[in-house]
Amino acid sequence: MLRFATAAEMRRWAETTQREGKTIGLVPTMGALHHGHASLMRAARADCDRVVVSLFVNPTQFGPHEDFARYPRMLDADRALCEAAGVDVLFVPTVEELYPPGAQTLVDVGALGSVLCGVSRPGHFRGVATVVTKLFAIVNPHRAYFGQKDYQQTVVIRRLVIDLQLGVEVVVCPTVREPDGLAASSRNAYLSPDERRQAVALSAALAEATRLIAAGERSARKIREALGVILGGHPAARVEYVALVDPDTLEPVERLAGRVVVALAVWVGNTRLIDNEVITVSDA
Ligand code: PAJ
Repeated sequence: MLRFATAAEMRRWAETTQREGKTIGLVPTMGALHHGHASLMRAARADCDRVVVSLFVNPTQFGPHEDFARYPRMLDADRALCEAAGVDVLFVPTVEELYPPGAQTLVDVGALGSVLCGVSRPGHFRGVATVVTKLFAIVNPHRAYFGQKDYQQTVVIRRLVIDLQLGVEVVVCPTVREPDGLAASSRNAYLSPDERRQAVALSAALAEATRLIAAGERSARKIREALGVILGGHPAARVEYVALVDPDTLEPVERLAGRVVVALAVWVGNTRLIDNEVITVSDA
């Protein structure tokens, strides 16, 4: 497995690889890799001739009081996971490399970035869109792989690719879960044993939403209330939002029809967790 720290080396390799007629799949990550990340690498491995994983804790997507400084960094373990997943290139730039001195340009994603997680994390999706644009510019991948776990991020990136004509195929992979249903996340490492047990509340709430919709419930308000009861039964959990939204526009829906995303952000202790389910509502 090759490892590059500079944009110039990364770009040179990508250009040579393209000239050889090989397809490149990119998996952008912030490291602290787990089996959710590995599933994206496997998908890229299956579809593309060459797989690049970027590992960069992106400062511009963290708010001033968020966990940028304490975000888990474990390069040796990350490297081993990538090696085992058959990754060809690990791209590990420094902050100065991706944000050259005097950097000014940011990619603003408009209203899609200010709803749901954007309410409590203003600027977060602008930071994500900015760094993903840079990675696409450097690697110029044919395809890029993202997890459904960060649903709003996938919508923002699809929009970004269309709006800026980036010509990258965006592939969204299913959420990988722990045996009890908790979505795998680098931030799960912050949970105490008791919080870890209570964190199952999120996937339990989503399972209840699926059950209610299958049983014929079509009122978003009633579903939100039922999920609030489940989450409220876990004393360490504090709801930031429970939302039922359109899968493409992220606008709230009240009467369910077609496809709906049930999206949650819940604090468990001092850790903010998100999860979602995309549900197809039958006509019957
Ligand atoms: P990070 O949180 O490291 O996640 C990298 C990718 O892995 C994202 O596309 C995310 O959705 C996916 N992922 C995380 N947990 C997953 C799970 N349980 N199942 C499936 N996929 C999962 O998301 C980011 O980094 C950053 O915002 C980034 C896109 C790299 C830009 O900095």
